Amino acid sequence: MCGIVAYIGSREAYPIILKGLQRLEYRGYDSAGVALLDKKLEIYKKKGKVAELEASLVGKNLHAQAGIGHTRWATHGEPSDRNAHPHRSSSGKLAMVHNGIIENFAPIKKELVSKGYVFESDTDTEVLLHFIEDIYKHDAKSLEEAVRIALKRIVGAYVIILLDQDHPDTLIAARKGSPLVIGIGKNEHFLASDASPIIEYTKEVVYINDYEMAIVKPDELILKNPGNERITPFITKLDMELAAIEKGGYDHFMLKEIFEQPTAVFDCLRGRLDPKAGTIRMGGIDKHLDLLKEAKRIILVGCGTSWHAGLLAEYVFEELCRIPVEVEYASEFRYRNPVIHPGDVIIAISQSGETADTLVALENAKKQGAFIFGVVNVVGSSIARLSQAGAYTHAGPEIGVASTKAFTAQLTVLYLIAMKLGFAKSAITKERYLHLINELALIPEKINEVLRKADDIKILAEKYKDARDFLFLGRGYNFPIALEGALKLKEISYIHAEGYPAAEMKHGPIALVEEGLPIVFVATKDAYHEKLVSNAQEIKARKGKVLAIITENDTIFHEIADETIAVPAADEILAPLLSVVPLQLLAYYTGLAKGLDVDKPRNLAKSVTVE
Ligand code: F6R
Repeated sequence: MCGIVAYIGSREAYPIILKGLQRLEYRGYDSAGVALLDKKLEIYKKKGKVAELEASLVGKNLHAQAGIGHTRWATHGEPSDRNAHPHRSSSGKLAMVHNGIIENFAPIKKELVSKGYVFESDTDTEVLLHFIEDIYKHDAKSLEEAVRIALKRIVGAYVIILLDQDHPDTLIAARKGSPLVIGIGKNEHFLASDASPIIEYTKEVVYINDYEMAIVKPDELILKNPGNERITPFITKLDMELAAIEKGGYDHFMLKEIFEQPTAVFDCLRGRLDPKAGTIRMGGIDKHLDLLKEAKRIILVGCGTSWHAGLLAEYVFEELCRIPVEVEYASEFRYRNPVIHPGDVIIAISQSGETADTLVALENAKKQGAFIFGVVNVVGSSIARLSQAGAYTHAGPEIGVASTKAFTAQLTVLYLIAMKLGFAKSAITKERYLHLINELALIPEKINEVLRKADDIKILAEKYKDARDFLFLGRGYNFPIALEGALKLKEISYIHAEGYPAAEMKHGPIALVEEGLPIVFVATKDAYHEKLVSNAQEIKARKGKVLAIITENDTIFHEIADETIAVPAADEILAPLLSVVPLQLLAYYTGLAKGLDVDKPRNLAKSVTVE
């Protein structure tokens, strides 16, 4: 949440920062701002999206070779010009951007107020900035030292970057709990929340770790630990191309990412699934196979869409591996003192690898002796680094705020793990194992077939776009997909939507059904199919509109439903990889038909780095 970007070197800083903010806008878009340092420190900031900041700066002299920028997801203080970052210190000489939350801002603010500090915003960031400046004025020999002293008192999560008018050749940055990557150029450095603002200039980057501080000059990067000792920066080569973070001819990232799913799933299977040999190879599993086979329990932890992937994996692991599985919302798990035994395996699911709740839940479980296995998309992210083993999802950068291809890639990895483990434990027969391997290999092409129905789904979306509510129902493997379909629609179209197990309807929610209420049945053919047919009849009897995702040639559902979208037949365990795709498209086209910004839905940010 919140994107930060900074530059120091010999180029013009503003265009680099502006482009960087546009790339990081998925992290928040309540306001945007830049601080530029030529001889004097100038700060420009504006409520709203980066484009509004850009428009407000046309015609201004923005010459500077050092600068910091910020795109905000509001935590402390409403979205407004005055709460926008960068903030300026009371001497006027320091500017700071911050991503995270300072939890103990209140007592520090009280102290500062008693010393006569005046606050211009409602943010915790301004408190930290005044605190740093106060220490700089009275107790420290340098800004670097002042930052170090201040951070020792801070409780919370942060990445901060400071610009000092008196030292135009130095940026000071520090991190705990929020991400920071530094790109190394020739006599220049680029700092950002992720690599997307950097890749166009350099592929050499350093991922900053928690509690590290960076003193960044055009020609030097000094890293230090809290004890003021120098650390050797570990330089990594970025494995990402610029095209991966551009729209590539699509109107929105969300649509591009939905259409990238055949490739994302294929990339995820590549080098792992070998249908000819009938094998699944995964380094992270092979290395720890005995430990995983012996696991008494698997706990799947995630948030939002990643939690939905976990819920489906619960069904799949129990079916294929016969290991007891629990699935937990990270935000609940981290606070409710769960019983964890050494030897419990925790599978952490996260696209960004930076979700604060998931990260802390894992840290806690690791301390209690659990083994952490990460299923993460962003390489080198905090959750990936905290995990003791893992398997990347290889979906490529996901920029649309609503998760799509990361979800199908998460499912793909989780299927691979469950199949491999189930076979290794002899919980499934060789025949079933080989059948699933062959079926999984066919999924990318089958997703392509579903995508060919995009125009039909668009028509459906336009027809139902004015509905006030939607229900999504499914059973078994399709129940988590019903939840995911409802979440996608809420996020992107702001239509109220709920997902339920279809059989739960008669225990309460059926009271909601009235004439015309659209109810989406995720009804691909499986063991529950006949039951679902009865559930759909119950809805029809109450004049609800039945929209169904069905398997091709399903004549029964075709007759009951008002609208159907057919997907190719697949093994019932794997069918969710197909049935989720029309629901993603339904959400996308509904948002589009309502004229909404589907890549940046209101109030949301992609990477939830605050709790
Ligand atoms: C929904 C969505 C969110 C994320 C959730 C977890 O479309 O994107 O619900 O799934 O915030 O994020 P990660 O997977 O990055 O931990």
